[in-house]
Amino acid sequence: RTVYVNGVYLPENQAQISIFDRGFLFADAVYEVTAVLGGKLLDFEAHMARLKRSMRELDMTLPYADEDLLAIHKALVEKNDLEEGLVYLQLTRGAADRDFDFSEMTGEPGIVLFTQAKPLIASTLAQRGQKIILADDLRWGRSDIKTVQLLYSSLMKTRAKKAGADDVWLCRDGKITEGSSNNAYIVTENNEIITRELSNDILHGITRSAVLKVAKLHQMKVIERAFTIEELKSAKEAFSTSASGFVNPVVDVDGLAIGDGVPGAVSSTLREAYLTESR
Ligand code: PDD
Repeated sequence: RTVYVNGVYLPENQAQISIFDRGFLFADAVYEVTAVLGGKLLDFEAHMARLKRSMRELDMTLPYADEDLLAIHKALVEKNDLEEGLVYLQLTRGAADRDFDFSEMTGEPGIVLFTQAKPLIASTLAQRGQKIILADDLRWGRSDIKTVQLLYSSLMKTRAKKAGADDVWLCRDGKITEGSSNNAYIVTENNEIITRELSNDILHGITRSAVLKVAKLHQMKVIERAFTIEELKSAKEAFSTSASGFVNPVVDVDGLAIGDGVPGAVSSTLREAYLTESR
């Protein structure tokens, strides 16, 4: 693959980052993942707007204009002949001798981008539905900032896989916050779509906002509030959204079937509608 590191396109095995990079030493970095379908970027502007928000919340400054970031994304898609997959962008505060205090840092943020070719539409998870397990949400209190501090989610996702499941949904005070790397939803018997309201507890998903818009367009009722574990277990349907998974039905929670135990009608309709609207 050709990757992009601090102004240069080069083969991945020649890319280098300092061992003093704060992204490496302190997880002091933010990221975005943008889907590519048919060689085209999905929801690009929204991803860049969120990137800027994440940086602002962490007192980081972005040394690139939106046009530069778009040009780099497009160049990587082209150089790697990427038809379907993801573009990963990471911005780190940069390199400095190890010190918790970064107030004296003068250098510019570092930037890295790479592509991942991957079938996104023909997804087995979308076809058969996901099995999930539940775990306490022990992440820090600013899950709305898209930082690379992903160890807890990564540990829980691995635990889910080892337990024969596909993913984990995190819970705080008996209510679902979100998935390891996706937003979480249930559909009630009355066909109401319920998903946690935006706050510091969850990532403000770009796909979430697009899917909610599509749902309203299709006259579906959307309620933004936290739902309990009991509500999840007795829901008619459940699903997750993310840039890499679009809309993915959930058919099993902690070994208990959701609804009929197969992908539900609302989830399937939303997946199709989202893909139609966003392309
Ligand atoms: N994850 N919640 C969390 C914790 C996430 O990491 C993500 C995205 C989402 C969904 O956000 P969006 O719709 O903007 O992708 C929600 C990306 C895909 C990842 O880490 O790979």
